[in-house]
Amino acid sequence: MSNVLIGFNPKGFADDAVEILKKAKHKVTVMPASHNIDQKDLIKAAKGKDAVLTLLSNRIDDAFFKAVGPQLKIVANYAVGFDNIDLEAAKKHKVIVTNTPSDVVNESVAEHTFALMIALAHRVAEAHIFTTHGEYKGWTPDLFLGNNLKGRTLGLIGAGRIGGAVAERAYKGFGMNVIYSDLNKNADIEKNAKAKHLPMDKVLAQADIVSIHVPLFPSTRHLISTREFSLMKKGSLLINTARGPIVDEKALCRALKTKRIAGAGIDVFECEPAIDCDLTDNLELRAMPNAVLTPHIASATYEARADMAIIAAKNIVAVLAGKKAISPAK
Ligand code: GLV
Ligand code: GLV
Repeated sequence: MSNVLIGFNPKGFADDAVEILKKAKHKVTVMPASHNIDQKDLIKAAKGKDAVLTLLSNRIDDAFFKAVGPQLKIVANYAVGFDNIDLEAAKKHKVIVTNTPSDVVNESVAEHTFALMIALAHRVAEAHIFTTHGEYKGWTPDLFLGNNLKGRTLGLIGAGRIGGAVAERAYKGFGMNVIYSDLNKNADIEKNAKAKHLPMDKVLAQADIVSIHVPLFPSTRHLISTREFSLMKKGSLLINTARGPIVDEKALCRALKTKRIAGAGIDVFECEPAIDCDLTDNLELRAMPNAVLTPHIASATYEARADMAIIAAKNIVAVLAGKKAISPAK
């Protein structure tokens, strides 16, 4: 028996994690809440534990490992991304780090990418506000004109698992053309979505809609900034369901304000949970009528959250049994 901390309250959406861990005869402690977990409270609860299931909003660094103690064997991050974890520090403290790559999560994020894309192309968010504010006074043929997705070019920045799921839906579901940039060629989407591999600048210049699907690394921070917006087509859209800091948010606000691009669908923010890093320059993402914003919920379906719980718990069970992790973060 080992001691496991679930660093949030899994009740109602991630109960499988508790079941799996208990079945493996581990002692499971859960944090009472799922939001605003203070770093100090997390560390206090994690002290002496052999395994901790963490959230992407937790900072897992050298100080965390030192405070929790040398018995800690695994940090299972309840997320696909793991930019909140210092992998070097984990290695130094001999702690295995895992994430939750999953087809179900990929489906959820890909669907949310289309939710944002369609919301922009068909102006759903603006039209909703208009309608609920009682402004619909009669049908006119030019009310909220948008664009069809069919036949438009989708440019993927990053075509791993999630980008691949987006590519397939774009091609098969919506009849879009797909182009992509990635360090690696993706043979599956070249075959199944007739996707074309191009350098990033060419993708930016040719796409009607650019969608970001790379992880956050030092090398991808501000990957999309002023220069990149200047390459994008006038009238194009940007979708970000990956990580906020990949886009230079001030440059995005300027591009939206000056209509350099036509709109943005944003699920992740540079200074999350703040929607704007600072409010001193009249460049607020929240104030842009051509931005559709959601609060980091692309993988927030019951199906995805349950699958993530199963993967995280199975990683913990494997590592505590002295076996290889199922999905080590790499
Ligand atoms: C969510 O953002 C995740 O990385 O799973
Ligand atoms: C991102 O997580 C990807 O796999 O493309």
